[in-house]
Amino acid sequence: MTSSDQNRVYIFDTTLRDGEQSPGATMNAQEKLQIAKQLALLNVDVIEAGFPVSSKGDFDAVYQIAAEIQGPTICALARALDKDIITAAEALKPASKKRLHTFIATSSIHMEYKLKMKPDDVLKRASEMVKLAKSLVHEVEFSPEDACRSEKSFLYEIIEAAIKAGATSINIPDTVGYTTPAEFGQLIADIKKNVPNIDQAIISVHCHNDLGLATANSLSALLNGARQVECTINGIGERAGNASLEELVMILKTRRDLNLFTNVNSQHIIRTSKLVSNITGLFVQPNKAIVGANAFAHESGIHQDGMLKNNKTYEIMNPEDIGLLSTQIPLGPRSGKHALKSRLEQLGFNNIPVADLEEIYERFIRLADKKKRVDDRDLVSLATDKSLESDSATMFELLHVQVTCGSSGLPTASVMLRDQRDRTNILRGAELGTGPVDAVCKCIRKLTKADCTLIEFSIKSVTEGIDSLGEVIIRIQDNQSSAIYSGHCANTDILLASAQAYLNAVNRYTEKRETVKINPQQSEVNV
Ligand code: KIV
Ligand code: ZN
Repeated sequence: MTSSDQNRVYIFDTTLRDGEQSPGATMNAQEKLQIAKQLALLNVDVIEAGFPVSSKGDFDAVYQIAAEIQGPTICALARALDKDIITAAEALKPASKKRLHTFIATSSIHMEYKLKMKPDDVLKRASEMVKLAKSLVHEVEFSPEDACRSEKSFLYEIIEAAIKAGATSINIPDTVGYTTPAEFGQLIADIKKNVPNIDQAIISVHCHNDLGLATANSLSALLNGARQVECTINGIGERAGNASLEELVMILKTRRDLNLFTNVNSQHIIRTSKLVSNITGLFVQPNKAIVGANAFAHESGIHQDGMLKNNKTYEIMNPEDIGLLSTQIPLGPRSGKHALKSRLEQLGFNNIPVADLEEIYERFIRLADKKKRVDDRDLVSLATDKSLESDSATMFELLHVQVTCGSSGLPTASVMLRDQRDRTNILRGAELGTGPVDAVCKCIRKLTKADCTLIEFSIKSVTEGIDSLGEVIIRIQDNQSSAIYSGHCANTDILLASAQAYLNAVNRYTEKRETVKINPQQSEVNV
């Protein structure tokens, strides 16, 4: 191993698995594939595509990603159970580079109350299941779940057994986000010192953010010998989320003195962040490091003065390094299709289908007529919207919306939809509401017979200015299963954006309901 190999940090992205465990972030196979394609452009080393035994939908998503994505290793999660491991291996079959990730809890509290197993049985099961996984897939990762609250001596013993059984990566999860940077760094150093065969595996870490320490804990582990980090785009994940990919990548890129590097193409960070946010319906907070709207905004006069004199006074990273193109000439109503296509390519939207490009161009011209200066943020919004729209229009298509509202009279919406499953079926209706958005949503809900409740409605402008695109994210909850679905849309007309975003969420809900109807026995298993 050369010294540069020793300093290489492998990026294991779990946006599609742990990230999807964020409430309401459920994605369908098409959406997962779209994100996986973007993760491949970002050049992550491993994509954890899902937990195949959990549902048929997840199995199909992993299988499709394994079949279509080239470059990164495709990984699937499995509990330490025969059925999980065999199903995960089956879903990974088409991948050219594959890894099976199996886990079992090792803390006393998890073994006693959750697993109801004795430590010796857990040890035996881990060893047997790693062996089974190894017989099916060459690369095997083993995680002792809740490692940070496990007895160290037991942890050393189970890690040694897993490596002996064939594990090539040992992942140390801080499942409940309890540890601190010094403590976690010490744990990694202790594992290196006390597990005799540890040099036969790579040490990985997987930190949750319950105390806001996920990135700091992951970094501390890297400084103590871990060489793989499990992370997610925008830090999404179970509860308070996971360590954020963009933070870890940019820490190592900015602090070269740490002497660690990744192979990630950081210029795709912004685009990936935006795509994940739009698909999952989880907005990125404005002050979020690296990808928040304010991450490169300089507000105070003293800072702005410094920036004008030398941008290094207040900027430790180049915005271009994460894909923010700040020096571009804005496009306008006279810009041609070719200029639009080439700017979209610079922004990372490659291989847009011709028909989609036509539509984006039409929307761009309409926007440019209203707005005069269309900047990169508008373009990202239009292009992302198009790709999401084509995935979500599988059930109902919005043909017409009309709303009347004002200081007198009752807010009223009339809506016309086409049922895509029987294209001759045109649904028409009108509803009153407490406000115009309420009237539109009520009408769509009645026409589609969706048994759901609107639980979140957020709107923000894509750029500054009164003529900006308004970006709407809506989350609805299934009244029967409590599952949450999100929808996104951007338009200068915020009522149209609201109607389309609501319908996109209802389409996801309906699609899921149809799948459950077809496979009524399908039980969902959670990690
Ligand atoms: O947080 C955790 O422990 C996990 C494991 C499955 C690795 O997500
Ligand atoms: Zn986790």
